[in-house]
This record gives sequence, C-alpha cells and structure tokens, in this order.
Amino acid sequence: MAKRRVAVIGAGVCGLSSIKCCLDEGLEPTCFEQSGDIGGLWRFEEFPERDRASIYKSVIINSSKEMMCFSDFPIPAEFPNFMHNSKIMEYFRMYAEHFDLLKYIHFKTTVVTVAKRLDFPITGQWDVVTETEGKQESAIFDGVMVCTGHHTNAHLPLDSFPGIEKFTGRYFHSRDYKSPQEFSGKRAIVIGIGNSGADLAVELSHTAEQVFLSTRQGAWIVKRTGEDGYPSDTAYITHYMEFLRCIVPLSLLNYLAEKKLNANFNHEIYGLQPRHRLIIPSHPTVSDGLPNRIISGKVLVKPNIREFTNTGAIFEDGTREEDIDVVVFATGYSFSFPFLEDCIKVVENQVSLYKYVFPPHLEKPTLVFIGLIQPLGSIMPIAELQGRWATRVFKGLNQLPSASNMVADITQKREEMAKRIHFRYVKSPRHTIQVDYIDYMDEVACLTGVKPSLLSLFLMDPKLALEVFFGPCTPYQYRLRGPGKWDGARKAILTQRERIIKPLKTRAVGDYTHHTLGPYLFMIVCAITLFVIIFSYSLAPSLNGYI
Ligand SMILES: Cc1cc2nc3c(=O)[nH]c(=O)nc-3n(C[C@H](O)[C@H](O)[C@H](O)COP(=O)(O)OP(=O)(O)OC[C@H]3O[C@@H](n4cnc5c(N)ncnc54)[C@H](O)[C@@H]3O)c2cc1C
Ligand SMILES: *[C@@H]1O[C@H](CO)[C@@H](O)[C@H](O)[C@H]1NC(C)=O
Repeated sequence: MAKRRVAVIGAGVCGLSSIKCCLDEGLEPTCFEQSGDIGGLWRFEEFPERDRASIYKSVIINSSKEMMCFSDFPIPAEFPNFMHNSKIMEYFRMYAEHFDLLKYIHFKTTVVTVAKRLDFPITGQWDVVTETEGKQESAIFDGVMVCTGHHTNAHLPLDSFPGIEKFTGRYFHSRDYKSPQEFSGKRAIVIGIGNSGADLAVELSHTAEQVFLSTRQGAWIVKRTGEDGYPSDTAYITHYMEFLRCIVPLSLLNYLAEKKLNANFNHEIYGLQPRHRLIIPSHPTVSDGLPNRIISGKVLVKPNIREFTNTGAIFEDGTREEDIDVVVFATGYSFSFPFLEDCIKVVENQVSLYKYVFPPHLEKPTLVFIGLIQPLGSIMPIAELQGRWATRVFKGLNQLPSASNMVADITQKREEMAKRIHFRYVKSPRHTIQVDYIDYMDEVACLTGVKPSLLSLFLMDPKLALEVFFGPCTPYQYRLRGPGKWDGARKAILTQRERIIKPLKTRAVGDYTHHTLGPYLFMIVCAITLFVIIFSYSLAPSLNGYI
C-alpha cells in the first residue's frame, strides 16, 4: 500500500514536530512554508513578512528549557534555562537537522486553499492548492495538519478607544515593536499587561523618559525563577501540584499562592492587584523586571484609558497624561484560517475542535489543528503530543468518538471554562483556547496510549516514579511507554536537574560553606549567660547576708 500523504501547513515549531510525527508513524509528510526558513514566530527579523508572526529583538522565552523541549531531543545541557530567541532558533535547527526534517519542507510556498475532494466521505482526501512565486499548483493529500500559529493577526481594538483618531502621536500594535532605541527620551503608554505588555513597558522604561502601563484588570506577576533560583515552572508544573489541586480547596490554594506572589511585592501596593484570583482562571504574566521599574518610578501603573486627546490620554479614574509621543497596544492576537474558509468557522476567536485538535463534523478525521491552544506552560510539548495522537488517528490506529459525543465534549469543556472564568473576569481573546497544562497533556497522552502509569512506575522503578511525580512534568515522561517510546526517556528524566544547573556553572565555587558552628556557639554562650543571670537573681535573696 502506498504511504499516506500528509500536508503540513507551516514550518514553525508545530510544523516541525508534526513532520517528525508523520515520519514516526510511517506517513509521508509534505510541509509548505510561506517564508524562506523554519522557526515561524521565533525567527526574528527586523522586517518580517506581513503574514508571519513577529517578535521583538530581545524576546526571551518564558518557559524553561526542560519544560519546552521536544520529548526525545533534550536541549543541550549547556544552553541557558530561559533562552533568547536566537538560541531557541539554534535548538530548532538542531532538531530539524537531527531528524532530517528539512527535505520535506517546500519553502516560499503558501497554501491558498484546502478543500474536500468530491469523494471525501469515502476517502477523506483533500485538494491542497499552493502558490510558489505566483505559480499555483494543486495536489491531493490524505491528511492535513494546520500549523499556522495563532500569534499572527494583531488584535487592535481601536473601537474601544474613543479619540484615537485625533491623537497626533504614534501608535502601533506590539507585533510591530522591534527595539527600544527610537523611543529614547520619549513618553510612552503601553496598553495591556500580558507578557508582551509587561516586557515592552520594562524595556522601554530603560531609555524612555516615562512609561505608563495602562491595565484594565491588573495581573498576577510571576518571576522566571523560583525557590533557590530554579526555573519557577519546574516547581509549579508538577504532578504533585496537580494532585494538590485536586485535594486542597481552591480558596486555600489561591490564598497560599497569592501570599507567595505578594511576598515578592505586594500587588495591591504596586497597583497591579487583579480582581480575579490567581489559580484558575487567571493567566499570570511572567515578568522579572516590572516591580523594579515600578518602584524606580520609570513605569507608572494606570487604569484603562477612557479616551485619547490630541496629545495624550484621559484614564478611567479621571487622571490625564499629556505630551505622549507613542502608544503601544499590547492587546494580543486573533487567529484565522483564510485557506480553509469553507469548512471551519472562527467565531469570536473560537473554533469548535475536539480536544482542540479535530473538527467534529467531518465525515473523516483527516484534518487537524496543531498548537491552537493557550496553555499555562510551553506550547511545544503539547504540539508534539497532539501530532502523535493525530497521526495515529490518520492511520486508523486510534478512533474518535461519534460526532455527537465530540460535540458534547466540546460543549462541556466550554461550560467548565466559562464557569471558571469568573463573571467579572473580562473575556479576552486568548482565554477561548486556554487549557490546563498537565490535565490536557495527560488527556491527549491517554488517548494516544503514552501516559505514564504512576502506580506501576512506583512498583517497578520507584526512583523514576518519585522524579515523575514530584519533579517537573517534563515532556520525556510521555516517551516512557506506548507508541513512540524512546529509550533515552528514563535517563533524560533522571538527569534533568543536572541540565538545569549545568549552564550556571561558569565559575567554579570552592567549598566555602561557612562554618555554622560560630553562630551556634554564640547562641549557646548567650543562653548560658542568661541562665546564670536569672539563676543568680533568683538566688540573690537567699544569698543575702552571706556576701
Ligand atoms: C511575543 C511572543 C512571545 C511568546 N513567548 C512564548 C513563550 O515564551 N513560550 C511559549 O511556549 N510560547 C510563546 N509564544 C507562543 C508561540 O506562538 C509559540 O511558542 C510557537 O511559536 C507557536 O508555533 P507555531 O508553529 O504554532 O506557529 P508559528 O511559529 O507562528 O509558525 C507558523 C508558520 O506557518 C507559516 N504559515 C502561516 N500561514 C501559512 C500558509 N497559508 N501557507 C504556508 N505557511 C504558512 C508561517 O510563515 C510560520 O512560519 C510567544 C508568542 C509571542 C507572540
Ligand atoms: C509566554 O508568553 C506568551 C506570549 O506572550 C504567552 O502566550 C504564554 O502564555 C506565556 N507563557 C506563560 C507560561 O506564561
């Protein structure tokens, strides 16, 4: 039988891992990438193509290396835990080279339409029309994996900002921000306190005269580093934490976690306190610099903007800032699939997908969306699991439930999310595709048959089980068993802490452990002296007359 052909649209991270998943399952992938290179969003360019996602020059990833890597290709030990985008690209190139993925990619080729063939109900085949340098071509595929990302279309809600048309300064979306030089000495407003908003406010504040950070809701701010300086995601994304979430009342968890974050800096005093609680439904912002820039007065936190004036803005609390040179809208993204107009509808930034992957109404499950999620963790490991599951469904090795059951599942998920997103919590585009990290990965892993069984692990390999349960939920865990099992997974898990520490060992530190005896001796001497004093005072009356 001829190998089934799969079209992979886009060669960002999700595209790369999808190509690999196809190869692992013996499918024949053809990847179409409209730009001239791999990496998608992570490939920084001063002037990127209009329809490719784009980042600023200084972007450092907010998930740590052990949490974001591909599950059978650990990031080299000497790479830093939080990588600059150039380093991430280096890793992606290593991955593509190691698994020999480049030869499947057609660069400078845009997918223009993807349409069901007439015999789709029987074959599940697609007509894929591509365009290369103005020339169109059509080909037939047995499966399609959409890996076009969801950070491409800038969401610029100008309608919500009356007066913007008369504002004479410059304004633009965060996707068009590249570097801070040109804003030196300027007065800037950054709107939005997501990861981009916080990052840009901090970066601009180093050279700008003044930065105002306008936020409607506020945000919980988490640092990249946690206890002992370990990446904080390695501490809170664990099966153990997930277990706690199941048994400890949510209000108590919220209280403890918020207390911890407020110990870094008090969110109320700093004007950042959101109305929503920290754990579920919130999406915290990762920023190390923001509190410092606020206490230095370089960033002033403001409420939402009520309206713009010719040269400034009036905020919802009635305060006014004038002489504003520039406004950056860090207001997020929306997604669309122009090439799929006929068979998939995006309404209010929502699409109905079973487990965020399969459209439920197709006669054959041969179309999937990879990475169309907003996890509280890294997208990469999720994209990989989705790809592993999808390719097995393509091959008929795994079955999907009936359309009505899938729709019921989607509706149930949506209702759960709606319940969690507190009614006061303003809906923003990204929350429509937000998922719980470990929950979701376990779910997809289960469907694929690769979820590690903790119980049997504890019986057979307790050392490994302890690290799997208490340690960071790293992607290698999903390579311990089942289809796609990788022999290196156990070792990768047991050595993950070494790889975290390794890049920090750039200065040999001798054993200068300070002698702890000194303080103890001092305390013991103090205690004895105190005792003697008290003792002699209490004896004093009876000694009267003798001395
Ligand atoms: C500023 C910023 C910071 C981020 N930081 C993090 C982070 O710290 N951690 C994290 O996990 N995620 C982060 N993300 C999310 C990011 O989207 C993912 O990390 C990841 O890059 C998504 O990969 P992707 O392959 O889905 O999409 P992309 O990287 O966007 O790649 C999509 C590719 O598809 C191509 N394409 C699109 N349409 C077509 C077409 N019709 N035909 C052919 N090719 C097409 C594009 O050219 C592109 O190369 C960040 C996003 C932004 C905007
Ligand atoms: C990291 O930043 C991106 C882009 O702003 C965001 O989508 C993602 O949710 C962030 N991840 C975490 C763990 O906060």
